[in-house]
Parts: sequence; C-alpha cells; structure tokens
Amino acid sequence: MKITVVGAGAVGATCADNIARRELAEEVVLLDIKEGIAEGKAIDMMQTATLTGFETRITGVTNDYSKTAGSTVAVITSGLPRKPGMTREELIGINAGIVKGVAENILKFSPDAIIVVISNPMDTMTYLALKSLGLPKNRIVGMGGVLDSARFKYYLSVALKCNANDLQGFVIGGHGDTTMIPLTRYATYQSLPVSELLDEETLNKVAADTMVGGATLTGLLGTSAWYAPGAACGALVSSIVRNEKKIFTCSVALDGEYGQSDICLGVPVILGSDGWESIIDFKLTEEEQAKFNKSADAVRNMNNVLTDMQLI
Ligand code: 2OP
Repeated sequence: MKITVVGAGAVGATCADNIARRELAEEVVLLDIKEGIAEGKAIDMMQTATLTGFETRITGVTNDYSKTAGSTVAVITSGLPRKPGMTREELIGINAGIVKGVAENILKFSPDAIIVVISNPMDTMTYLALKSLGLPKNRIVGMGGVLDSARFKYYLSVALKCNANDLQGFVIGGHGDTTMIPLTRYATYQSLPVSELLDEETLNKVAADTMVGGATLTGLLGTSAWYAPGAACGALVSSIVRNEKKIFTCSVALDGEYGQSDICLGVPVILGSDGWESIIDFKLTEEEQAKFNKSADAVRNMNNVLTDMQLI
C-alpha cells in the first residue's frame, strides 16, 4: 500500500513521520513544490528507521505526481500555514487554488484515493474538494475535529489533573477559533461525566482554551503547530487503511444531518476502508444546535468565496 502526503512543511512532514512510524503503508510519498525539501525530509526520516524500528519506505519528490500513482490515501497539507494573529480563514485566497490543483493532480494518478484535507481553512478546503472533484462524498475527509478533540482532552486533563488517555470527549462544528464546539456535556473521565467533577466556570475555560488552542500555539511558535496535527492525521489514516471503524470527528459533507446540507462540517463519523462510512447523528440541545447553525453560517460565508473565485 502507498500513502501520499502533499506538502513537506512541518505539518506534512510530521504526518508522513506518523504514518511511517505506525507502518500504515509499505511506502509514504512526500511531495512538495519546493525543490529538494521533500527529498531532504524523507531522507532525514528514513535515517530514523533503524532507531525507531519502522519498515515503511518514505520517498520524497519535487512536484512529480507520477511517483504518487496508486495511492490508497492522499493527505493534502499544501498551502500557507497561519502566522501569529492570523485566522485560518484569512488563508483562503492563497490556499484554495493550491488545494484544488493538488487534489486534481493526485486523482490523475490515484483515481481511487481517499482524500484527507488538512490545509486551512479546513472545512472550506474540504468543501472545495467535494464540489470540484466529483468523488463520492465518503472519500473526502477533513481532519480538523480529530485535532480539536485531542486538544480538548489535553485541556480537560490539565483541569482534572488526570491522564488524558482516561478521557473521552469531542469537538464538533467548524475548525475555526469561533466555529468549533467542544461538547463538554458529553466529555467523560472513564465513564464519569466531567461535569460532575469540574464546575461550570472551569468547563467554560476548558472549552475556550480548546477553541483558541491552535492560535495559542501559533502565537508561541510563530507558525501553526505540527506535532498534534501530524498525530491526528496518523490516527485518522490508521482507521481508514486498517479498517478500524473508529469514531473521529471529521469535516464531512452533510446531507440533512444536524439540520445542515451542502456544507462540510465537523461531526462524529465512523472511519474505515471506504473513508467515512457513516455519521453518528445525535440530537443536540437547543443551545448546541444554535451554536452548530452559527458555525455553519460562518463556514458557508467562507465557502461563498470559492464561488466568487470561480473555483467551484
Ligand atoms: C491547527 O489548528 C494546523 O489548523 C491546524 O494547528
């Protein structure tokens, strides 16, 4: 099996590293437009193989899509990352054209690939892939909610002073500082609702910290984060290629679920070898549904830019 990662920046390279370390494929192709960068990072990662003990071969290529032929999954991380003070949404003008071109090139050589979108603004880039590629909707998966849910559990673990691996919790809605919805009501510590253990003020702070989790790191790092995005990609791709049928929150095409249509937004889905196989559609409270609708409005506004740019 072959998996392609497009974009050898910090996020793309860390995705490739996670996929290789998990041995999710015989080969990972890392592709970048900038001469030498993918080759260099691929060799650097391959030189960790005897130290960490993975067997996956990582091949770096400069813009040669023929080397990606026959990929089962293609992960798109291309485009500019955020700079401090910048929202994910501000990247649309630059990233939309790039993502569309990348996805088309991937499909020329891997017509059956499942497309995983990481580039920002992620929900809009996922919608762009959905509308412009003409693939079955199950083969287009946006990664954001996997990452946001991991960040949610991190902030919960800090508040509870507990092991994050004992926590369950997920974030729905858009992958944006104001559009994501950490569902504190459903978060549990083992099976115990965290609302039994934390007061409302603390829970609200956990939710607020989660929402700006990416922006906080961009402020500290000067660019967007890469370790957790790369690990989130590894977990998501694992569920697809190993047909694990795990539930992750991903940005997928909604067709009436959660009261929304003609949009890609983060909802819990089951991931297996067909991509996202079904949506877990449960009833939100009135307040949560209002937030979800507001999130959809914001993402839809952003999607309209794609029409203005004549990309869809
Ligand atoms: C983040 O939230 C890269 O969008 C990604 O860090």
